[in-house]
Amino acid sequence: MTRTIIADALKSNEYGKTINIKGWVRTRRGNKTVSFIALNDGSTINNIQVVADNEKLGEDFLKPITTGACISVTGVLVESLGKGQTVEVQVEKIEIYGGADPDTYPLQKKGHTLEFLREIAHLRPRTNTFGAVLRIRHHMAQAIHRFFHERGFFYVHTPIITGSDCEGAGQMFQVTTMNLYDLKKDETGSIDYSRDFFGRQTSLTVSGQLEGELAAMALGAIYTFGPTFRAENSNTPRHLAEFWMIEPEVAFNEIAENMQLAQDFIQYCIRWALDNCKEDLDFLSEMYDKELYERLNFVVNNDFKRLAYTEGVEILKAAVANGHKFEFPVDWGTDLQSEHERYLVEQHFKCPVILTDYPKEIKSFYMKQNDDGKTVRAMDVLFPKIGEIIGGSQREEDFDKLKNRAEEMGVPTKDIWWYLETRKFGTAPHSGFGLGFERLLLFVTGMANIRDVIPFPRTPNNAEF
Ligand code: 4AD
Ligand code: MG
Repeated sequence: MTRTIIADALKSNEYGKTINIKGWVRTRRGNKTVSFIALNDGSTINNIQVVADNEKLGEDFLKPITTGACISVTGVLVESLGKGQTVEVQVEKIEIYGGADPDTYPLQKKGHTLEFLREIAHLRPRTNTFGAVLRIRHHMAQAIHRFFHERGFFYVHTPIITGSDCEGAGQMFQVTTMNLYDLKKDETGSIDYSRDFFGRQTSLTVSGQLEGELAAMALGAIYTFGPTFRAENSNTPRHLAEFWMIEPEVAFNEIAENMQLAQDFIQYCIRWALDNCKEDLDFLSEMYDKELYERLNFVVNNDFKRLAYTEGVEILKAAVANGHKFEFPVDWGTDLQSEHERYLVEQHFKCPVILTDYPKEIKSFYMKQNDDGKTVRAMDVLFPKIGEIIGGSQREEDFDKLKNRAEEMGVPTKDIWWYLETRKFGTAPHSGFGLGFERLLLFVTGMANIRDVIPFPRTPNNAEF
């Protein structure tokens, strides 16, 4: 008999029909004569109730059907009299695929802390919380592809192994096949990478942007969506060493259009979640974040506030003058800390903020230089609870300005000759940005720690699973 997905069975009203369902036991309770098994197959957060006649199946047979066991149930779909469910399955036959010893299976009925669940990341998808998060993660990925596809953007696959440092921040993981126990060095003590697999030093990419720009200068509008890697040693609830990034890049867009694209994009994704993930969002808002819906609806329905970095700094300095305490100092020229970003968003404007025109010293070499000689056409989108969710800019399209800035900032131009050439051959204004997928998921799910919105988090000192 073909299997019915539990999400479908729960919606069915074909009472009296015999169906087959398969899944993992959440709980089994009952009395001498009857057992109630709550079964979940991951298709929905909701369990289906399976009702078994103890005498018919035998106590001994039912014994291994405990929390965590995997079973296949054939039975009749009937209308349920129980509270909170419309259908249940009356067992004709059960096949046990695999038991789960109650003495060692860690996911017993009692609630577990998120910290504990991180230690059992191989099993946590079976909890309501991670089931919900992973289904929402899937839906967000779908939303992202649809948003861009509907607007004529092409999905471009940029390399994961790279010989250049896009952000120029030097936070890269090296890729090598050299024997680390026997490294050959030249007279100056440098490692001889000509013997390495690629004949040069290579790393895992921190961003697909540079290659994305090449594609935009041919296809017009593109986006990337892939894993990126940063060896930054920041153990915060918002940083991962391996995270997924979405990077649109559009020829002929200037900064204002780039900002509008960012706003439309995030609003589309959040609306998608509201329309497609209701049961999971209901659960997460109930369990973790009572204001979740309020925040999601607010972002969908309101424009993001746009202002220059310089104005933002003035607001922050005024706050300090009025007695507000920040851990880090604010001064024109310094990078904003998460506490500053959140102050602007949560306390001052009470809405998402797009800050533009940052000092050139704290931004990457490729950003378009403003005429003031001090700032670049950068834009960061700042969100409640998250801080920076998007970083982007208009790009410097002038060959000489770009090359000079790269040199000033110590970016080895010999590694990016191909990138510079786009400014030599048919250069054009263009803009783009990067959205951290897990930062978006933090916002959408209401979870507080980025380790809880990716199946297998990679952070300093942690690469288990
Ligand atoms: O601001 P970032 O570094 O910008 C870039 O990488 C540009 N190349 C993007 C572009 O213009 N195409 O990173 C972009 C976003 C951040 O705003 C943040 O959401 C996320 O990526 N991000 C991280 N997310 C999780 N863990 C980390 N360590 C992250 N670093 C950046
Ligand atoms: Mg940034």
